[in-house]
Parts: sequence; structure tokens; C-alpha cells
Amino acid sequence: MSVTQSLDLALAEAFGRPLANALVDQHAKWLARHGNWDDWCQARDRLPALAQRWRIQDGCLIAGEDCDQPAVLTEQLKSFIPWRKGPLCLGGVAIDTEWRSDFKWARLAEHVDLRDEQVLDVGAGNAYFGWCMLAAGARQVFGCDPTQLFVAQHEVIRHFAGPAPNHLIAARLEDLPQALNGFDRVFSMGVLYHRRDPLEHLNALKARLRPGGGLILETLILDGPGDQVLVPPDRYANMRNVHALPTRKRLEQWLQASGWTGIECIDCTYTTSYEQRQTEWMPFHSLSKALSADDPKLTREGLPAPLRAIFLAQKPV
Ligand SMILES: C[S@@+](CC[C@H](N)C(=O)[O-])C[C@H]1O[C@@H](n2cnc3c(N)ncnc32)[C@H](O)[C@@H]1O
Repeated sequence: MSVTQSLDLALAEAFGRPLANALVDQHAKWLARHGNWDDWCQARDRLPALAQRWRIQDGCLIAGEDCDQPAVLTEQLKSFIPWRKGPLCLGGVAIDTEWRSDFKWARLAEHVDLRDEQVLDVGAGNAYFGWCMLAAGARQVFGCDPTQLFVAQHEVIRHFAGPAPNHLIAARLEDLPQALNGFDRVFSMGVLYHRRDPLEHLNALKARLRPGGGLILETLILDGPGDQVLVPPDRYANMRNVHALPTRKRLEQWLQASGWTGIECIDCTYTTSYEQRQTEWMPFHSLSKALSADDPKLTREGLPAPLRAIFLAQKPV
């Protein structure tokens, strides 16, 4: 069964056949819009057929049995560069991703009980975290992400991991049908600061949950006690699309204004070049090039260096 057929069946079972038909059609059309999509599909179809299995070990997603031609597989997997979220080991080939995403997971895992939950991961990237969620007991995970390369990477990962209830929909949150709702938990990690209207994003996340459902929100914040918001005048840490960095207090105000309860900040951590860095699997500029050469507490634009916070909150019953 193809990855898309598996997504279709899972959507039909959870949300009904009409929603599955419409969303899978939208998903396929969005993927086909990318000029490289057919090449990625052909590269995926040339991958070696290996026994499928998966596990998380020391934060690494290990999928598939070891292949007997690792040099060939390494070149095949490099056609999906840049690999950003991991670490991964596919068919015995270790992929040293740009992000040690397992560090983020370790900061939140002990605060969240996902057992038997149905989860929506907004801005899921290649759905690395979906595997962590399944390993933590989630019943089913749907991610959404509009970046076609990350969906291609997800299909590569599933080629090795095999069928599992970790699905990725090629869409922005705002393009998902309203009827895709009732989740027990919604994750939004690394997305809020890309949104021009943060309250609209927080409201949209709440609309996807059942009453009493939980939010995990991870985003860039500004250090300090007040309720300011830094609006980068141009780029922030080399990124063009960072719209707002609120202080912790301001973010709590946004969550309250959006109607969330039980708001709790469980972590604030500066990103280090151990967690985010250039590797042979992500050979482009990474964090070290985004920071000031003179003062690592500042970005190259002279703004405060990236500080990330994780918040928990609930949709009222
Ligand atoms: C900084 S990455 C974060 C990935 C992952 N959640 C993490 O925490 O490492 C942001 C992701 O959000 C996706 N994204 C951007 N706008 C989005 C939107 N409106 N809805 C859903 N995903 C979005 C991007 O394609 C990208 O993969």
C-alpha cells in the first residue's frame, strides 16, 4: 500500500470518506505543483526493498533493516537534501540532520502524556516528531506541512519504517478542512513566529481540539520580564519570515486572549550550535552563520539570539 493510500484510509476511518477524498485530492495536487516531485517519487521508488521496522533509540529514529550497499543508499538519500529534522538512521545509513530534534523532544516529553491520544502536529516537517509521539503511546498522529520536500522525506522514512499511524498531509493548517477536528492534542512547534497574526494561529489551533484537549506550543521568545514584542525590522537570524518575538509574559497574554486555560511555560532554552548546525546532510548556512561573529548572544542583525520556549495549555471543557 502506498503512503498516500495509507493516509487516505486513516483519514476515512477517523473523519469519514468524503473528507478523505477531498483532502487526499488536495494533498496530491499540492505535491504535484512542485517541479521536483516526480523526480523525488522516482528516487523513492528506487530505494532498496528491506524489511520494514522502526524504533527510537537514544533520540534517533532507526528505520528498516541494514542494507548491504550503504554507499549506494547514502547517495540515494542525498537526493533529498536538506535533511533538517532528526536524527535518523535509514536502512543502516545514519543521517546527521541539521537539528538534533531529539533535544526539543527531551525538553517536553516528561510533561505530556500522549497515551492513546489522537494528535495533530502543525508544521510537522518530515514528521520526525510523529515517531516520537507514537513511541510515547499516541494512538494516531496526523501532521500537516506545506513543504513538498519534507513530505517526500516522510515517504522515504515510511519506505523503511513501514505502515504506522504517523501520517503527513501536504497542507498549511489554514488549508485543512474545518471538519478535521476533535483531536486530543495539537502541537505547534516552530510555526507561530512565521505567522503574521499570532492570535489567529492560536485560535485556529484551538478549533482543531476536542473540549479539554491540550496544546503544546513551541516558539521563539524574547528574554525579559515585561510584555514587549520584538518585531524584526528585516531578517531575524538570517530568516526572512520571522514576524514577532513576544516575551514570555506577552505570549501568556496572547494565549489568555485566545481563550486557553491552564497555561504553563515548561521550558526556555537558547539554541546552541550543538542542537542546530550545518552537516553533510544539510550543507547550507545554519545557526553559526546566523549569529554575530563578535557576540554569540546576538544575531548577525544585532538582535537577541534565538531563545525558544515551550508552553502547555488546554482548550476549556
Ligand atoms: C521551523 S519548522 C519547525 C518544524 C518542526 N515542527 C520543529 O519544531 O522542528 C516550521 C515548519 O512549519 C511549516 N509551516 C510553515 N507555515 C505553515 C502553516 N501555515 N501551516 C503548517 N505548517 C507550516 C514549514 O514548512 C516548516 O516545516
